[in-house]
Amino acid sequence: MNRTIEVASDRQGVIDKALEIVLHKATEAIATRDNFTIALSGGSTPKPLYEAIAALDLPWDKINVFWGDERYVPADHPDSNQRMARLAWLDRVPIPARNIHAMATTFTDPVVAATTHEEDLKQFFALKEGEIPVFDVVLLGIGDDAHTASLFPHTEALQVSDRLVTVGSKDGQPRLTFTVPVLNRARCTIFMVTGTSKQPALEAIFAPTGDDFSYPARLVRPQGEVWWLLDRDAGAKYAKTD
Ligand code: 6PG
Repeated sequence: MNRTIEVASDRQGVIDKALEIVLHKATEAIATRDNFTIALSGGSTPKPLYEAIAALDLPWDKINVFWGDERYVPADHPDSNQRMARLAWLDRVPIPARNIHAMATTFTDPVVAATTHEEDLKQFFALKEGEIPVFDVVLLGIGDDAHTASLFPHTEALQVSDRLVTVGSKDGQPRLTFTVPVLNRARCTIFMVTGTSKQPALEAIFAPTGDDFSYPARLVRPQGEVWWLLDRDAGAKYAKTD
């Protein structure tokens, strides 16, 4: 794992660096594969990043947007990750509708939703049986409990390795989430972490040993680049002293 920890003075510094990396990876992917695939994270941290991307003039027809996880609510619900990204970014740019690969939450049974999205991924990436999609960029955050995507501590979703998408659970509420094997295939993973409340989680995640099922973000050890973009409030202790 090629991990870089970068501590910015504030949240805007985290967003600026994330934007720089995303644009670099998009340029690289489009130049080499004529296509850029990015999986978005939800929560509140990434919203200014999505707003910054929306302000740019990019080759939108070559950019495909996915989500690493989704709350099991309607797409117009205030908690929807899809809704947040559409309002902050996707509704503001001429990206083709076919390039937006939302996790549908319209099925009564979230398991059907997970299976359906898995089929969407297999089709888009033209996957053979058993193959795992390789995203150019996966954006992630962490919770105060060191969850990431919708992989919460001590939940069954953490151990699912034979699926691409599974049903996570937060306090009994269903969520859809990429599984660990999918997260670990990304070419470039960017964690954006801000705020003092994330300090204990970061400590547990970066500790040389620890219980991965208590601190799920520890399970994310991609083969590609991993950027941990922290603001000073969250990660002052990891700032380079040179
Ligand atoms: C979600 C996210 C989740 C998020 C963390 C951090 O659906 O909530 O995907 O994993 O990244 O909970 O959220 P904040 O950015 O709001 O701290």
